[in-house]
Amino acid sequence: MSTKIKVKDKFFSPFITAAEIDAAIEKMAAQMNINYKDKRPLFLSVLNGSFLFTADLLRKITVDCEVSFIKLSSYSGTQSTGVVNSLIGLNEDVTGREIIILEDIVDTGHTIVKLVDLLKEKNPSSIKVATLLYKPEAYKMDVPIDYVGLSVGNDFLIGYGLDYDGAARNLKEIYKIE
Ligand code: IMP
Ligand code: MG
Repeated sequence: MSTKIKVKDKFFSPFITAAEIDAAIEKMAAQMNINYKDKRPLFLSVLNGSFLFTADLLRKITVDCEVSFIKLSSYSGTQSTGVVNSLIGLNEDVTGREIIILEDIVDTGHTIVKLVDLLKEKNPSSIKVATLLYKPEAYKMDVPIDYVGLSVGNDFLIGYGLDYDGAARNLKEIYKIE
């Protein structure tokens, strides 16, 4: 594995190898292949961070399935000062579907909670959450995280889809801030 790298103004050191990422995804896929036999799940991949995870996971899914890509966009409401969230990119009718949300990382959980709330309004038959990385010390929400690739500490990570100010998403391995 490579050594310390510099991205913009910060240094990062190797943390999770490509082989460890692959093994974690293999385990998640194996569970899903059992749990979703004959259920034709609809994977909803949350852009941008989940693109590599989604591509690698889906190649290990052997059950009949569909995949679509969504984004949570936030904007300031015109009337109130509160931030309004909306789901963009969802063209499928999710009514009665078995949804699996694919996230790169669940940190405080604000993102996943909003996503689940917005999706519930569309009456799917189930919503499960799968995340490659999970920060249990930061997560204070009630939404269960059903599939976890790897649990990590509270450090800032980059690589394999995760960015630092737009950079480093292309790295094959995951790096931790120094
Ligand atoms: P949450 O809403 O706090 O759970 O954060 C979710 C989003 O924050 C993720 O989808 C990432 O885009 C970003 N994020 C959280 N932790 C990290 C990290 O360690 N590195 C890069 N992005 C992160
Ligand atoms: Mg993200």
